Amino acid sequence: MQHFDVLIIGSGLAGLTVALKVASEKKVCLVSKRKINDNSSNWAQGGIAAVLTSDDSIEAHIQDTLIAGAGLCDQEVTRQVASHARETVEWLIAQGVPFTREDDGSGYHLTREGGHSHRRIIHAADATGKAVQQTLAEQVLNNPNITVLEDHIAVDLITSRKAGIGSPEDNAACLGAYVLNNKSGKVVTIGAQHTVLATGGAGKVYLYTTNPDVSTGDGVAMAWRAGCRVANMEFVQFHPTCLFHPKAKSFLITEAVRGEGGILKLPNGSTFMQHYHERSELAPRDVVARAIDFEMKKRGLDCVFLDISHKPADFIISHFPTIYRRCMELGIDITKEAIPVVPAAHYNCGGVMTDHTGRTDLANLYAIGETACTGLHGANRLASNSLLECMVFGQAAANCILAEPIKLEVALPYWDESRVTDADEEVIITHNWNELRRFMWNYVGIVRTNKRLTRAMHRINLLHDEVNEFYSNFRVSNNLIELRNLLQVAELIVRSAMDRHESRGLHYSKDYQSMLDIAVPTVLEPLNYFSLLDKDHKH
Ligand code: FAD
Ligand code: SIN
Repeated sequence: MQHFDVLIIGSGLAGLTVALKVASEKKVCLVSKRKINDNSSNWAQGGIAAVLTSDDSIEAHIQDTLIAGAGLCDQEVTRQVASHARETVEWLIAQGVPFTREDDGSGYHLTREGGHSHRRIIHAADATGKAVQQTLAEQVLNNPNITVLEDHIAVDLITSRKAGIGSPEDNAACLGAYVLNNKSGKVVTIGAQHTVLATGGAGKVYLYTTNPDVSTGDGVAMAWRAGCRVANMEFVQFHPTCLFHPKAKSFLITEAVRGEGGILKLPNGSTFMQHYHERSELAPRDVVARAIDFEMKKRGLDCVFLDISHKPADFIISHFPTIYRRCMELGIDITKEAIPVVPAAHYNCGGVMTDHTGRTDLANLYAIGETACTGLHGANRLASNSLLECMVFGQAAANCILAEPIKLEVALPYWDESRVTDADEEVIITHNWNELRRFMWNYVGIVRTNKRLTRAMHRINLLHDEVNEFYSNFRVSNNLIELRNLLQVAELIVRSAMDRHESRGLHYSKDYQSMLDIAVPTVLEPLNYFSLLDKDHKH
């Protein structure tokens, strides 16, 4: 058993922020299931929303966030995030992040994205995430107070209840986590005074996604199994423009392309967004994604097209160098022709419920970044508010952690593998994984119906039985852990979608097309909700 003051699960922007902010006073362990930079943060393109000019205002940023969130944003949290944006960006600049400057060097270039009333997105060309992630990751790797464990996947949280520490009614504290070393195949016990879930999103629950392979909802599933509430899981954001090409797996075409004048077109060259929203291409993301989905289904299209070729070639290449290069590799010259695009699952607005410092229902357990539901995004996240949220909440959680005196180590039970053997049939895992992602795409996608949701839930229940049996009898592997978590997250998404009898923000139901007068979040309580996945024999 190893013991640290702070265990951080996840090495994206949320995890790195907390690690760097507490490392001066605490001994930190940061685990990452692949390499440190394998995550959504590293793939972020557009940028970070922040009020940085005098013609913009924090009130305008708040209003834009609230409008996108369709009545479900927490107003105090929205104010907290918008008003800390400037200092957050200044911190990044001080760490050395190379944001793009205006051509004349007068200041930082700000781009525009859907739903924003002003130009307020600071960026590093079209690879903002890489610039931020890699600058901070280097500092983490060089910090003597931070132990980085790559290729280690957290399996489950250790709670006082499961560990039999404290009174039987005491479900209230998190004591660390069981973590599988993917190289040795051994599960290690990591005890910690504070545990931070920074595991990112769950895009891999869908067949088509902009997310990297690590986005399997592990934090939400672990927190749920440990007894935390989750909220707003039905609000899955589909990005309107993912590159459509047989050889392009999960490649995003940033919204900033539309912000800088890109126009959506049908194969015959006609435009359509003006029929859907007064802001046309710059309408909120859910409106654009649904419009594309509608046009594709109505006309039987494989994709629509995003055209920025009317802009000067040097403008396109300097603003979007990554997209230009990637498309060129696939034979598409974006300075001369339109880009084939389709919507894809992009962001989970729901997650583990937290307060305004990232604290969850379990003492000593925090959830930061995409795995959390802080109340900022409501029913639909405003573009470029996510990286910002990772850092503002990372700082808030760090403040709480730093305020606590260091406590004595607690002895924890080891992972029990005495009743399991090596898996004989990996095909069951891959088959179930593919099946899950396909029916989630077809039945729980951009447009939902009662019938489709019921069918999806029926299939989830069948898969639960198979995966549970597998989990109970065989040694855990990375793929099995991820499938088990994806299935749990799928169940939470479908359950939440079934509970919402209206269309709001990202949740659109053909059976309940109007929006109710009062906006209520969907909160699922694990103690009142029977989940088959709770019935496992392992610690
Ligand atoms: P991530 O960056 O995804 O990191 C999660 C980490 O947790 C990973 O390192 C993963 O390996 C680790 N992990 C997960 N499970 C486990 C486990 N069980 N054990 C150990 N480690 C685990 N947002 C913006 O604001 N602006 C943008 O321009 C923008 N562009 C985007 C472009 C793309 C292509 C994508 C996919 C997203 C974009 N987003 C953008 C959203 C934003 O990037 C993410 O919401 C944000 O980076 C999430 O950060 P995170 O730290 O919460 O998670
Ligand atoms: C993009 O660059 O279009 C993604 C921005 C975001 O998801 O916030």
